[in-house]
Amino acid sequence: MKFLVIKGPNINMLGIREPDIYGKQNYEALLEYITCVGKDANVELELFQSNHEGAIVDRIQSAYGKTDGIVINPAAYTHTSVAILDALKAVAIPTVEVHLSDVSMRESFRQISYAGMACLKTVKGKGFEGYKEAILWLKDYVT
Ligand code: DQA
Repeated sequence: MKFLVIKGPNINMLGIREPDIYGKQNYEALLEYITCVGKDANVELELFQSNHEGAIVDRIQSAYGKTDGIVINPAAYTHTSVAILDALKAVAIPTVEVHLSDVSMRESFRQISYAGMACLKTVKGKGFEGYKEAILWLKDYVT
């Protein structure tokens, strides 16, 4: 079983960016955490991060027919990107949305998730653990 884990803009700044919201652990720690979850769950993971909307669209398109599931944190593009929503709909791969913070408790502009409209489930406000929940849920779903 193979999943693609996509992280959007500024997730590579973890540990530096707004630690009160996103925590003090850095991006490398997140990669290590996700890699361990994949090994424990016996799921092959491809990890991808980009600060560019088109690169994320390209990566989703290239997953067509090649991956069993997608875990995506589109970061700020969550709230703006119809292109990412359309790409997820186009490939129709089972997808779970993850947010480190609880976006439902934050600014009004974060209350819409375009990508979420193509996702089976959303995990929010659980920090790194949210990725574990998403990967395990998706594994159960596609098994
Ligand atoms: C985020 C929430 C978004 O609103 C924000 O723009 C991010 C990160 C999260 O993981 O909590 O960059 O997706």
